[in-house]
Amino acid sequence: MTEYQTITAEEVVLRDGTIKLHGPEGFAGMRKAGRLAAEILDEIAPLVQPGVTTAAIDDAVRQMTLDGGAVPATLGYRGYEHSSCISINHVVCHGIPSEKTLKEGDIVNIDVTPLLDGWHGDSSRMYLVGDVALKARRLVDVTHECLMIGIEQARPGARLGDIGAAIQTYAEQNRYGVVREFCGHGVGRLFHDAPEVVHAARPGTGPVLRPGMFFTIEPMINLGKSPVKLLADGWTAVTRDKSLSAQFEHSIGITEDGCEIFTLSPKGLHKPPY
Ligand code: MF3
Ligand code: CO
Ligand code: CO
Repeated sequence: MTEYQTITAEEVVLRDGTIKLHGPEGFAGMRKAGRLAAEILDEIAPLVQPGVTTAAIDDAVRQMTLDGGAVPATLGYRGYEHSSCISINHVVCHGIPSEKTLKEGDIVNIDVTPLLDGWHGDSSRMYLVGDVALKARRLVDVTHECLMIGIEQARPGARLGDIGAAIQTYAEQNRYGVVREFCGHGVGRLFHDAPEVVHAARPGTGPVLRPGMFFTIEPMINLGKSPVKLLADGWTAVTRDKSLSAQFEHSIGITEDGCEIFTLSPKGLHKPPY
């Protein structure tokens, strides 16, 4: 049975497996953190060019996060030492920023999580480096559609599995693989909380969505098969078949009649080209 826990302004929040139900203070906190995440993703768009190192992009993310009065939640998280994850081509997620340079034709996911006044704004988008092949651009477009189709299911009374079901159906209609090894998550005062938001599921399964639930939806969609493997660094996840992978992520909150997207781009830079 799913347990829910109503959260008020000042209490200590534990990762105890309950699904938290937030009130107006929570919405206000997530709105600010989410907006900062979206502004960072807007501002780095012009930086994503051939020849730029992913470490330089990570530096810019860290600076913008600090300038916004936040700290990168990933810095020091389980030993992770960077302010973003930057995942190129067949890297599915958790790519580690480095001196490696972007090259023409790459597709890149940049994932940021500013922690602002105790709230986590978690979001990622895809970026295109110069001219990108049609096949890759199509994967990026369909992955964004997967995220938005998932978000359309998010309203009180629906089940969590309805989100994954909609995403899986759409991705598989396009003959893409949906990654199973990583999922979305409850978010708020905690970076990663219950529930697990899987991106492939059966409709009508999982917890009932209730107003005040905050979670991410962050489908990872592969041009080839779905299986993933972890590299020796312990973080970088890549497609087993080396096919391209794309991902978009929003943090959302369930409202009385639907949901609020906390991480929408203020500049309308929802998907590339930007
Ligand atoms: N931002 C990622 C997510 O969407 C988590 C990154 S954790 C890190 O959940 F340690 F890899 F940075
Ligand atoms: Co996330
Ligand atoms: Co993220």
